[in-house]
Parts: sequence; structure tokens; C-alpha cells
Amino acid sequence: MSSPSEAELIHMFKGIAFTTRSSPELLKSLDTFDAREDDLLLVSYPKSGTHWLAGVITKLYNTQVTLTSPIEFGDLSKLEELNKISLKRIIPTHLDYNMLPPNFKNKKCKMIYIIRNPKDTAVSMYYYYRDNPDLPTVDTWTAFFDLFLKGDVVCGSWFDHFLSWEEHENDKNILFLFYEEMKKDLPKTVKEIVLFLGLNISDSDIQDICKKSSFSEMKSDAQKENNDPSHTVCALTANRKLIFRKGTVGDWKNHFTPKQNRRFEEMFNEKMKLSKM
Ligand code: A3P
Repeated sequence: MSSPSEAELIHMFKGIAFTTRSSPELLKSLDTFDAREDDLLLVSYPKSGTHWLAGVITKLYNTQVTLTSPIEFGDLSKLEELNKISLKRIIPTHLDYNMLPPNFKNKKCKMIYIIRNPKDTAVSMYYYYRDNPDLPTVDTWTAFFDLFLKGDVVCGSWFDHFLSWEEHENDKNILFLFYEEMKKDLPKTVKEIVLFLGLNISDSDIQDICKKSSFSEMKSDAQKENNDPSHTVCALTANRKLIFRKGTVGDWKNHFTPKQNRRFEEMFNEKMKLSKM
């Protein structure tokens, strides 16, 4: 069987590439989504540590909660499906701020945005493209690097995504977290999350949650659960083995040529000149 063509896998909506797993009808109807005050959104550009964050957050609640697939994945029936969930909903999304259903903003739902060094994000996304049959084929890192810089990848430009959210960095209902900080001191980040969510968790429980959320633990859990597609946050694959690749900081140094690094830095400085980050 031949592999699916790019047109079968990708479509454009409001200038941003989505996989065909996000139906245009669903994307069009997102504005009508009825949010609840206690919804928690986990927001990220792909490959920024979404599964890690979701793994930590779901362990923080001692009541039952439902971690859904990203709001933008599925067809029109998705909104109805989310409506039927009676438990507290933890909803991941890769949408940029402008595409987020307005109801989440009006109801001041809590949102956590996780950011990762875009160079490492690019490398992680390259392997995800390369190994995931649900994404277009990329032949080489060099080819993918160009697509990433142009924003010609799913969810569009890293820069535009980040900037759309950064504009809201002072909104009290949004917490910004860094992948690199989580790597350096996970308990510190978890304490920040606990405070933001108004939870009450002892230091020893936090230590325990951090241990269970290490890369090696999560990877080995993923291997055990691999047959259950409902266990992926990123509905782009049911294969959790694709998610837990290396889990390190600075892998970009093993991939970027000096010239690519210069091009990236130029683009970064230009696009991010008004950013405080
Ligand atoms: P790498 O491809 O660099 O290994 P997402 O969940 O947004 O798709 O992000 C996936 C990236 O987060 C992958 O990066 C994955 O290895 C990393 N990751 C997942 N769980 C992690 C953990 N517990 N600790 C560190 N990194 C983790």
C-alpha cells in the first residue's frame, strides 16, 4: 500500500496547517464551544513537553478528572463528546491564542502554557514527522529545518504560536512554564503548578509525583500501555513510543549545522524583537 499523500494528511485553516484528524467543520465550530469555569487547558506548541505536563497534572488531583484529547482533534461530534463529560475536564490544545474558543477566555478558565527551546522543539518534531505515518514524509533534517523555519509544519510557525500567547503573559489565569526549568528542578515547577491550581499537596507527595513523572518512568509506562490508543494526549499517534524519544535539553547541538544555527538565530532575533522572553 502506498503512503498517503500530503493532501490526505494536511489541510490549511486560517493560514495554519492542521492534520486531517482535525476536521474543518470542527475547527469552524470551535467558537461555539461551551467552556466551564473549572476547565483546565494545557497549551503547547507540539513537542514542547505536553505529555510530560499532562502526566504531572493528572497525578495532582485526588478527585477523578478527565484528561481529554486536544480540543481541535476529531470531527464535529467532538464538542458533544466533551459536553457529556461530567468530571472536571483537563483539555490539551495546540491552538494559538486567537483560535482558542472565546468562552475559555470569557470564563477566565485556568490555562498552563508550556514552552521549550524552539531549537530542541524543531529536532523533536523532525523525528516525530519522520517516524509517524500520520504526518507527511520528510526526507532529511535539512529539509525539515527549512519547513520549520518557514512555519510550514502542523500548527504553523513556532514564533507566531508563542507570540500569540505571550501577549497574555500578565493574564492571571495563565501560567507559563518552561520545559528546561522542569528538567532542572521539577519539584519547583510542580509547586508553582500546585499554587496556581489552588491545590493542597504535601512536599513528600510532590517528590513522589516527580519520581513517577521522570522520563524513564513515563517511557516505561508508555511501553506497557502502548496498545491503548486512548492514552495519547497527542491524537496524531496512538503509538506512545513515538512520544518518549530522548527527553533531553540541547539535542539541537547534535543536529544544527553552524549555518543553520545562524539562520535560526537571525529569524529568532527578528521575530522575537518585541518579546520579553
Ligand atoms: P524529544 O523528542 O526531544 O525526546 P510532546 O508531549 O509535546 O509531544 O513533547 C514530546 C517531547 O517531550 C519529547 O522530546 C519527549 O521525549 C519529551 N518528554 C516527554 N516526557 C518527558 C519527561 N518525563 N521528561 C522529559 N522529557 C519528556
